[in-house]
Amino acid sequence: MRRLDQLLANLGYCSRRGARDFLKQHEVVLTGDTTRLSDSAIKVDPERLLINGEPLDHPDGLLLLVNKPTGLVCSHDEREGPNVYSLLPERWRGRNPQITSIGRLDKDTSGLILLTDLTPLVHRLTSPKHHVPKRYLATLNGAVLESLIPLFAAGTLLLEGERAPCAPAHLEILGERRAALTLTEGRYHQVRRMFAAHGLTVLTLHRERFGSLTLSGVPEGQFKELPLSFFD
Ligand code: URA
Repeated sequence: MRRLDQLLANLGYCSRRGARDFLKQHEVVLTGDTTRLSDSAIKVDPERLLINGEPLDHPDGLLLLVNKPTGLVCSHDEREGPNVYSLLPERWRGRNPQITSIGRLDKDTSGLILLTDLTPLVHRLTSPKHHVPKRYLATLNGAVLESLIPLFAAGTLLLEGERAPCAPAHLEILGERRAALTLTEGRYHQVRRMFAAHGLTVLTLHRERFGSLTLSGVPEGQFKELPLSFFD
């Protein structure tokens, strides 16, 4: 059982203070009962709540796979510019816990990013102990030489300012200036820094895979829901 005003506020319907007005403006009832709820302080079973005839919007949480365009940041800080959360419905942006990204993609990187309000999942999937492979497609300012393959695979590349070398990474050469790099970790600007350590600048970067997940069927700027139990 949850307090009604808190439940509505946490799911982004209104502020906690605005719950009384929300109840005046919307038909909020419990299934099997026609009495309209007007007391925002009562405790209710979220499963039974109907708002204008609709059940609650994802009361147990959200797990989303987003196809991020370039130009959007994963930070919530408005000063950093437009963010990936602007792709979501307005109500979801008012949820508490807040929807946040599982790891980050740079503003200039496009592709697959997961968003969720399941805080323990964020911690679990971003922990260094979690080694889910992430595949990136990069275009570079120069030729990618075959000799880079064993260098990235060796697990000895030490990036500037870091104490531990990068974990072994799988490099595939796709064309003269195109490569796919699969990482099992997620350090700051890692792909760009790994290539930069070998004199190459990443011109475009796209994440096409996160573990078994791909962007198939999700156009750029769109998202799809995943079952909350996906990573169980
Ligand atoms: N590596 C990068 O350099 N940038 C990203 O956005 C992701 C991985």
